[in-house]
Amino acid sequence: MNPLTIALNYHDRTKHRPSRYAASLGYMDWATQPDPFRTYEGAPRLELSITLEHPTPPGDRLFSNELPVAPLHVKALSQLLQFSLGIAQYKAYGDNRWALRMNASSGNLHPTEAYLLLGPIEGLSEAGMIAHYHPQSHALEVLQELSAPTLAKGSFVVVLCSVLWREAWKYGERAWRYAQLDAGHAAQALHVSASMLGWHTKLLPLHTAKLETLLGLDTPERFAPLEHEHADMALLISPKPFERSVDWERFAATPHPYRANTLSPQHHRWEIFEPLEAAMQGTVPPFSLPSNPLSSPKNASEIIRKRRSAQMMDPRTSHISLAQLHALLRSTAAPEAKVHLMLFIHRVEELPKGLYAYVRDAEALGDLRANLDADFLWQPQGEGLYLLREGEYRGVAKAISCTQDIAADGAFSLGMLCAMHRMEEDALYYRSLYFECGAIGQQLYLEATAQGLSATGIGCFLDDEMHALLGLRSERYGILYHFTIGRAIVDMRLLDMAPYPRCE
Ligand SMILES: Cc1cc2nc3c(=O)[nH]c(=O)nc-3n(C[C@H](O)[C@H](O)[C@H](O)COP(=O)(O)O)c2cc1C
Repeated sequence: MNPLTIALNYHDRTKHRPSRYAASLGYMDWATQPDPFRTYEGAPRLELSITLEHPTPPGDRLFSNELPVAPLHVKALSQLLQFSLGIAQYKAYGDNRWALRMNASSGNLHPTEAYLLLGPIEGLSEAGMIAHYHPQSHALEVLQELSAPTLAKGSFVVVLCSVLWREAWKYGERAWRYAQLDAGHAAQALHVSASMLGWHTKLLPLHTAKLETLLGLDTPERFAPLEHEHADMALLISPKPFERSVDWERFAATPHPYRANTLSPQHHRWEIFEPLEAAMQGTVPPFSLPSNPLSSPKNASEIIRKRRSAQMMDPRTSHISLAQLHALLRSTAAPEAKVHLMLFIHRVEELPKGLYAYVRDAEALGDLRANLDADFLWQPQGEGLYLLREGEYRGVAKAISCTQDIAADGAFSLGMLCAMHRMEEDALYYRSLYFECGAIGQQLYLEATAQGLSATGIGCFLDDEMHALLGLRSERYGILYHFTIGRAIVDMRLLDMAPYPRCE
């Protein structure tokens, strides 16, 4: 079977349907819950400081060209990681304590791991290295020396990888989708954090199998069975926009000797993943990371740290203004967007309740109109927002979001409609579309937090019910992620604790 057929079969098979959700164990096997922290046994660990060396900008100055550019020093690197993939806080309830991170993750399972390909860095090392980031201790685990002669001074690469097992443990066959979305969240978290330092991020067009060889991920003996990792993407981070291409062939590293910790005592094998993972190896087509300021002058580091998923929305206080809605949508804008937002507006002052579309690429408007319900109004509401149909969609939004109240009780919820037809050009768009959705999700979380609102990603939704509601007339488009925004009811029983013992 070719990669496109494998991806489309997987997609169809893992749709949630009203009569049957995608296959999973159907219960939580707590005895095999995976360790959320990977560590390489015996690898030298370099603890990173958590002092803020470089001033972090206000949210409304993010991505400004006038921000001071931090020199690449170990403290700046530490800051980058802390505000992207680090621990934001611990929560505790009774005897249970769990970490929450700057980047959101489905089920808080955090399949995404980060590896850094570094040249010499002041305060860290005179030699280049490949290091694994360990968020729990905010440390780098040094895996091997690296000669990377072609990297421009001050630039380095972050490779994001996924341990699919962490998601599969809870979500079964649908887990692969969530791992891709989570990687998109992590990429945007890095992009925003890099911007705080005046740095730039660029997706590198590199073959995932090559990345895996370089990082030693293709050595099965290093991992417990079924706990292997796959590379998702490589991001080049540099003080200046990077123009030259990276001569990948010149990266050289000798295989490292370290074994990864075992995450679970036992595993369930989901056979569907093996052909899918093989088919999804390759050079992932590019996707855009939103590079927009947030609407608040509050410090960006505070906004990032405060971001939390709402577990309940308060319908009595979840009203927002049209200007707030526009600011939320605007924050997701990006060039060459392949994902559009289909909104269930419940409580936005000045807008009638109903179904709306936010078209992120004006050029796609004609194609969207031709492929969605022919009776939609497409009445412009400014800045790419269109009213499709007036009406009460709270019940529908909740039903489509696996009966989750959060989809109905906020100001609005939405589904991300993706240009699935791009997969005919290259089956790996199946990954890049998820990455784009995840990046939009992370950005929406931050803009919602900037406005004093809350948000929650929604991976659990009934795929074809949403497609039917949109009157989709072909498979050119498909929904890959849902999301909700409103005002949260905070669970006051949970205790907040500092992320790191050495935190000031
Ligand atoms: C891809 C994705 C899918 C998610 N799906 C759901 C969902 O269906 N329902 C829900 O209540 N939360 C969902 N969440 C929210 C996560 O449970 C939440 O991010 C996680 O518990 C970590 O909490 P935090 O976001 O406060 O760090 C999702 C998050 C992501 C990133």
